[in-house]
Amino acid sequence: MNKIKTAVLGLGRLGYWHAVNVSKIRGAELSIVCDMNEETAAKLTQELEVPSYTTNPDDVFQNDDIRAVIISSPTSTHYELLKKAAESGKAVFVEKPLTIDLDEAYSIQKLMKEKNTLCQVGFMRRFDPAYDAAKKRIEAGDIGQPIYYRGISRDAHAPHEAFIEHSGGIFVDVSIHDFDIARYLMNAEVSSVAAHGRILKHSFMEKYGDIDQSLAYLEFDSGAAGDVESSRNAYYGYDIRAEVIGTEGSIFIGDLRHRNIHILTKSGKTHDLLPDFPVRFVDAYTIELEDFFRIVQLNETPRVTVHDGVKALEIALAARQSFQTGQKINMAK
Ligand SMILES: NC(=O)c1ccc[n+]([C@@H]2O[C@H](COP(=O)([O-])OP(=O)(O)OC[C@H]3O[C@@H](n4cnc5c(N)ncnc54)[C@H](O)[C@@H]3O)[C@@H](O)[C@H]2O)c1
Repeated sequence: MNKIKTAVLGLGRLGYWHAVNVSKIRGAELSIVCDMNEETAAKLTQELEVPSYTTNPDDVFQNDDIRAVIISSPTSTHYELLKKAAESGKAVFVEKPLTIDLDEAYSIQKLMKEKNTLCQVGFMRRFDPAYDAAKKRIEAGDIGQPIYYRGISRDAHAPHEAFIEHSGGIFVDVSIHDFDIARYLMNAEVSSVAAHGRILKHSFMEKYGDIDQSLAYLEFDSGAAGDVESSRNAYYGYDIRAEVIGTEGSIFIGDLRHRNIHILTKSGKTHDLLPDFPVRFVDAYTIELEDFFRIVQLNETPRVTVHDGVKALEIALAARQSFQTGQKINMAK
């Protein structure tokens, strides 16, 4: 079977790892990488022995040999790149969030339907072995009917300022992972959101209308409820946990521990903590891309669709609106 010639666009904190993973996947061939920063592109090209690099995304879209593109550039650039990908007939893997605003998301959804574009959105928690096991246990009925979702997503520190500027803010950038996985695990749609937040530490965020700590209370159309805490202030490490409470039990997902060791000294027992997302989700980032190339090869529907990307963005933007207005926002039916 022919390897799928692939381009990775955006080689920053996450795009670097996507490029590494593509270069290891048997059915894929990393043919070209693209970054606006030439030094970044050239360095990675050398490290992974990629045949070529460019600083102009059009070089990728005009190249008919490229069948698949991985978009991991800043969120504010997704719309233009997605449009070009759909118009040039490429299969697409796009990082979350799908786009930075809903008009863009709806227009991409329409275009991709017209062009029959295969597009997977990077909600990698669905591929993480722990979240995946939880989903299977919920579906097997082990905790009865899910009635409450609790999500905690705390970054060890704030991303660089340029990232914040183009990220859409904490609800669109961070909480969106929980909004997606909550829909998935609860098997229900969010019907309303009430959100709060403030800056606790990173005063530079005020310039962008952003905050570093937030809480969103969710109601689901199934009658269930939930809450999602997001933070950029977990100085101790990368802290991603969730709980689904059901009518007959509860499932806890995630742990703070990194390696499975305990260190015993006179001052007590310790273990190391997860430092960041590339470590916590190392398996998920690999599995989601393996699945992407499998479905491109078979021309199947991805496990995380553009519709999922749109739904999660709707919730995130409702949360941002609620935070800004102090009102509970009912989701459109
Ligand atoms: N799924 C996850 O866990 C996860 C984690 C981190 C980031 N992300 C998402 O990945 C995307 C990138 O985030 P990041 O943290 O890697 O950002 P980053 O700022 O570290 O890197 C972005 C890179 O894209 C390059 N770039 C800018 N405009 C470009 C363009 N038009 N074409 C090609 N390259 C361009 C920049 O030079 C930079 O190297 C964002 O959408 C973010 O939400 C997802």
